[in-house]
Amino acid sequence: MPRQTSARRDGRGKRLAALLALALPLLAGADAKAGTRADSLQVLHWWQSASERRAVDLLAERLGQQHVEWRDTMVPGGSGIGAGIVLRSRVLAKDAPEVAQLNGIVVRDWARLGLLADLDKVAARGDWDRQLLPGVAAVIRPGQHVVAAPLGIHRINILFHNRALFARHGLAAPLTWPEFERAAEVLQRAGVTPLAQSSEPWQVATLFEALVLAEGGAGYFRQLFQQREPAAFTDPRLGRALARLRALKKWMGSPVRELTWAEEARKLAEGSAAMLVMGDWAKGELNALGLNSERDFGCGAVPGTAAFHLYTIDTLSMLAAHPAQRAAQETLAAMVMQPALQRDYSRVKGSVPVLREPDLGAMDACGRASWKLFATSAAIHAPSMAHRMATDETARDAMVAELHRFFLNERVSVADTQHRLGVIGRRPQDR
Ligand code: GAL
Repeated sequence: MPRQTSARRDGRGKRLAALLALALPLLAGADAKAGTRADSLQVLHWWQSASERRAVDLLAERLGQQHVEWRDTMVPGGSGIGAGIVLRSRVLAKDAPEVAQLNGIVVRDWARLGLLADLDKVAARGDWDRQLLPGVAAVIRPGQHVVAAPLGIHRINILFHNRALFARHGLAAPLTWPEFERAAEVLQRAGVTPLAQSSEPWQVATLFEALVLAEGGAGYFRQLFQQREPAAFTDPRLGRALARLRALKKWMGSPVRELTWAEEARKLAEGSAAMLVMGDWAKGELNALGLNSERDFGCGAVPGTAAFHLYTIDTLSMLAAHPAQRAAQETLAAMVMQPALQRDYSRVKGSVPVLREPDLGAMDACGRASWKLFATSAAIHAPSMAHRMATDETARDAMVAELHRFFLNERVSVADTQHRLGVIGRRPQDR
């Protein structure tokens, strides 16, 4: 146990040092703008794994073909925790990059502060209103203006499984929790970790929100995380999701280590773990590791969530502080909406296109299922809390920390955690 704690501290220390190394020259007043040309964009993002890197390389290459240089600034940290910190300190130091990966509610909040350039002209020229799926249009135009360019939609309530392992033990993909438990028992007896899971806070929250969806469906999910209705926080369904989160620990191996999501995906690929609950960016990663989507791994819904789409949408926003780079920013925004780019990018990244009429034939079965479900109706949408689609960043961070504490410390009770989440969720009108 102490070894785990100090390893975690070391990991955090290293990450903090890396963040500071990126931020310090800026805080020391180095003029990073010197040398910035009108046909060059610095892009800040958090994509680090093999598949994420491929997606970035693809974007950079296609942008280069339009004579705009992509200057890459990657801040490590799954789900963008580190990138958010570095971006905020850079904006305060008046050294904002020209482009940043900002997702969901953060786009709305930064637009309200006047920090984002509007992309209305690009959107009008490209007829984005007609091109985009309705659920995406609302995210990139949180007020009067279009303030983000959408890259792709990720489905998060996915249960991946290693097909060879399941076949070897005569198991079928679990569709219900009792089936999941039975499969997990067989696998554990055979010396395989049934469920790959990291104790990294955002990864715990990512699993947890899929469990909330399983307990309550999309309507309840939105009441809890988006509308933050007080009654949703005292609801027994929240208690049951917490209890399931804790109960699943017995299938995760002990101790539950703080690995990156890409390391978890690798465990599934190598067969030391059999299942993984993760967004379909893990599909991109499994493909990058050489696994075939149809043959080597299954990509079904988390038990009890097949009818719902728990999602996050990756978007790029253009910072307003750079009038000289405006044309280049617009070139990038227009580029990400091109159907061929949407098709190629999604294939590498594991997401699906944001378009109403994408090339369905170019997707694998997992992608097609995700796109078709997302396109059916807003009623089945569950905007991710963990990935900033549902609630403001302060409440999100506090909820993630609370869930992490509950997950690590068995002495923290379900009732206590439910109460604390309710306090965090309180809206101004409930105070
Ligand atoms: C999500 C993001 C994905 C992927 C993932 C892991 O928030 O939407 O594109 O990068 O984090 O870092």
